[in-house]
Amino acid sequence: MKKDHPSKERTLVVIKPDGVQRSLIGEIIKRYERVGLKMLALKMLIPTEEMAIKHYYEVGGDAWLEEVGRKAAASYEKKGLKSPFKTFRENGTAIMNANAKYLSSGPVIAMIWQGNQAVGLVRKITGGTEPLSSDMGTIRGDFTLDTYQMADLGQRSIRNLIHASGNTEEAEKEIPIWFSKNEILSYRLIQDEILYDVNLDGILE
Ligand code: CDP
Ligand code: MG
Repeated sequence: MKKDHPSKERTLVVIKPDGVQRSLIGEIIKRYERVGLKMLALKMLIPTEEMAIKHYYEVGGDAWLEEVGRKAAASYEKKGLKSPFKTFRENGTAIMNANAKYLSSGPVIAMIWQGNQAVGLVRKITGGTEPLSSDMGTIRGDFTLDTYQMADLGQRSIRNLIHASGNTEEAEKEIPIWFSKNEILSYRLIQDEILYDVNLDGILE
């Protein structure tokens, strides 16, 4: 398969400290694995706050700060509440700093998953940012219950079990922060033939 074939799309997933503490590692991996995605790398580590800042800010920059702040304000509005922050950016910066504390508070599991539409597929399986409004059947919707309101009340991040790259560009910037080249494996899975080969000609004896 060529390097730019759709089956080669990659995404980064991090099971955040609450996911590890809730004993959901196996449950979470199962959901990405069973859809047909291929795991290329996996490690357990305790990220530093610096690494977490790099992960959010260096990858997303000011645009991410604004966007994350805008999303939070919209969620308040939808519930008929007023955001406690003056600007989207102020809200975004507070979120980033809280995220750095959250992500570095304990062991996490970092993984790279590959497959057709890997980024979108992983986000579909993971669910929306705020667990209480994430769809049932998604990981965040099924396994936890946090809200923007409760997180802001405690001046902390939303505990939503997982980080998943937002788009392919984000994924390709995030991956080198978490993995060196020699930690990322390149190999064939037997099921790749069923998922991606043009002909199903290897089945019959
Ligand atoms: O993780 P996802 O891509 O769904 O969301 P994001 O908008 O990229 O935000 C990254 C993370 O920041 C979220 O997963 C939350 O843990 C946290 N966050 C938060 O605590 N409060 C917000 N208003 C927005 C995000
Ligand atoms: Mg994101």
